[in-house]
Amino acid sequence: MNILLFGKTGQVGWELQRSLAPLGNLIALDVHSKDYCGDFSNPEGVAETVRQIKPDVIVNAAAHTAVDKAESEPELAQLLNATSVEAIAKEAQKLGAWVIHYSTDYVFPGNGNTPWLETDATAPLNVYGETKLAGEKALSENCIRHLIFRTSWVYAGKGNNFARTMLRLAKERTELSVINDQFGAPTGAELLADCTAHAIRVALEKPEVAGTYHLVAAGTTSWYDYASFVFDEARKAGMNLALTQLHKVPTSAYPTPAQRPANSRLNTSKFQKQFKLVLPEWEEGVKRILAEWFTATPI
Ligand SMILES: NC(=O)c1ccc[n+]([C@@H]2O[C@H](COP(=O)([O-])OP(=O)(O)OC[C@H]3O[C@@H](n4cnc5c(N)ncnc54)[C@H](OP(=O)(O)O)[C@@H]3O)[C@@H](O)[C@H]2O)c1
Repeated sequence: MNILLFGKTGQVGWELQRSLAPLGNLIALDVHSKDYCGDFSNPEGVAETVRQIKPDVIVNAAAHTAVDKAESEPELAQLLNATSVEAIAKEAQKLGAWVIHYSTDYVFPGNGNTPWLETDATAPLNVYGETKLAGEKALSENCIRHLIFRTSWVYAGKGNNFARTMLRLAKERTELSVINDQFGAPTGAELLADCTAHAIRVALEKPEVAGTYHLVAAGTTSWYDYASFVFDEARKAGMNLALTQLHKVPTSAYPTPAQRPANSRLNTSKFQKQFKLVLPEWEEGVKRILAEWFTATPI
């Protein structure tokens, strides 16, 4: 089986290189790949890659993920998050291939406090969310064999993320203010990658599972409580933090170019039932990544 992975160097793409490897012959590309085009600013190029490789399964972890920047470059965000996805979807449909794709809770308006269901009405608050929603439609309308996993608050051992930024700031500063009125579930790239590999095996046996799923770790937290958790773990591990005061602030205290949803909770019942998997509490994955960082040996 040939598996084509786009976006191999992102948070999720990096973990997919590991989790997809035992499933078949993995061809992993990023924007700089030379043998085949992996550049999503070139829809015809990525379509040609699919025609050349003729994969059985395509996993797309490439995206324009800079949420604030997307507000000032909507055309580029649309090109990466929707136009190239459509080009890939059309080629995959001709081959009868599966396309696995990631989307976001940002397709929802973020009101209320109930976890969103896959069937709830979408209404993105920002350009990133609009282009990701356009990508979902481009895939589901052009390729029957698709899995779309909407996720949120992704972190990984590699790359920059909220937990890493908080730790750096807590070493430098005595006071920090963190938003306390946005709610979601920090979700590890490794969990997404492992669930993707399991889901692909199910999909190959049962094509009727094609569709959109919410895929996040279990439980809910706020950015403030997430930061507190990271600092508690750091102190338990003996790390010296300069931080003495952590303040709760509302979103309005941090104006950003892109508006963020307050309610990022996603209901994952459909995913767990369909794929017979259990999603662990968010704290489990975060603890593991923190332990890795705290015990990492400098080279
Ligand atoms: N991160 C989150 O909190 C979050 C939340 C919800 C959903 N998601 C979705 O989850 C998926 C994976 O996200 P992630 O967290 O792994 O994001 P990420 O770490 O930002 O990875 C995205 C990858 O896309 C690459 N990329 C950028 N421009 C490209 C281009 N022109 N052609 C090809 N690749 C390009 C990036 O490369 P460079 O790094 O070199 O630019 C990066 O490797 C995405 O679909 C994202 O929308 C993420």
